[in-house]
Amino acid sequence: MLTHADNELLCRVGPATPMGDYFRRFWLPACLPDEVTLDGPPIRIRILGEDLLAFRTSDGTVGLVGDHCPHRGASLFFGRNEEGGLRCVYHGWKFDTSGACVDMPNEPAESDFRTKVKAVAYPCQEWGGLLWTYMGPSHLAPQLPQLEWARVPADHRRLGRWIHQASWLQVLEGDIDSSHSMFLHRALDPDLQQRSRRFGVLNDRAPRLSVQPTDYGFVYGGRYRTVDEGIFNWRLTQWMLPSHTMIASKQFPVGGRVYVPVDDEHVNIFNYRYHPERPLSDQELAFIETPLGSPRRERSTLTLADGRRVDTWRLLANRDNDYLIDRDRQRTGNYTGILGIQEQDKAMTESMGSIVNRSQEHLGTSDVAIIAARRRLLRAVRDLQQGLEPAIAAMGDAYRVRSFDVLTSAEDLQEVVAKHQADLVAIA
Ligand code: FES
Ligand SMILES: [Fe+2]
Repeated sequence: MLTHADNELLCRVGPATPMGDYFRRFWLPACLPDEVTLDGPPIRIRILGEDLLAFRTSDGTVGLVGDHCPHRGASLFFGRNEEGGLRCVYHGWKFDTSGACVDMPNEPAESDFRTKVKAVAYPCQEWGGLLWTYMGPSHLAPQLPQLEWARVPADHRRLGRWIHQASWLQVLEGDIDSSHSMFLHRALDPDLQQRSRRFGVLNDRAPRLSVQPTDYGFVYGGRYRTVDEGIFNWRLTQWMLPSHTMIASKQFPVGGRVYVPVDDEHVNIFNYRYHPERPLSDQELAFIETPLGSPRRERSTLTLADGRRVDTWRLLANRDNDYLIDRDRQRTGNYTGILGIQEQDKAMTESMGSIVNRSQEHLGTSDVAIIAARRRLLRAVRDLQQGLEPAIAAMGDAYRVRSFDVLTSAEDLQEVVAKHQADLVAIA
């Protein structure tokens, strides 16, 4: 459990909040690059409680600017994307991707007022098949995390983004909570069970879980009994600050997610699956397109609680339709009656409420990684409040790690990590 104050500290991410400041020390994915087209309409994105617009100019440069025109606050979403900038349709002021006002047609030609006005704008970079932004102080520009999935050629990976209607932390906590897989994601019919094994779903329902801290976050190990006495199946998942995960998998393609808070009560999920050595095969891509491989989703404009709208991707199974739960399927098909791993996760994490009340929890031994992550985040956020910058933000190469799944006689996590050090290092 967490005190109410600590829970608030971790979940409030808007401007000038401690956790929001911490996130603003890292490069964060904003959207998929092909969501913004040459001279096409801007798309509305909210990141860390700030309403922003992404747009691509005629020469391919991407801009991420504040939604409100600095003149009198009209939304630049209605603006014209023309020749290297976004022009507000209220009085015609035009801003380039750096936020500079490059035209102010309703002011006298001799006025230099234009040079004194700047729109909110954040730097953008295309990296690893995503569009990233950095929203922190410019003198502290961090390094891009050298994640293996981001370093491989484009045809070695498949990416997707969608929104969950809950706090970033409770959604991320699902990835470092290995024991839920044996329940939430369990298949009942033999055909589904067969396919679920691709996710490494095993039958030991009470694995021994442990955490080994690292510079970048931690390695989290689940030790599962096997039919062979003295041989364990160790599943090692990576958590990288502030909100990257890589899930243990028996073989490539391996998957994971990046969680980017939209605001206190929504999170953008960037999902990846990749192979380090070769393009994804037709068979792997076909599987990724099935409901078990990726959630069925649609491009959608969502109206948030304060009336603002964001352009995103929404799962077809969502809160409004009870995640398409099918009680017959729940009797004979799978544990939940909900189709799809991501949909099952979404149902649970959203059902906790927008920000779960962690002062009411009862955490057990299976929650060891969640406890460790919260402690680490609290420490990092408090350090930053004291003026200690996160060193990891400037250590892009520290992110070159892998998750891992192995059969071994090693009894504890330290031993597995020591024995398989090479398998936990990215090669790409
Ligand atoms: S409000 Fe945008 S130009 Fe006036
Ligand atoms: Fe899950």
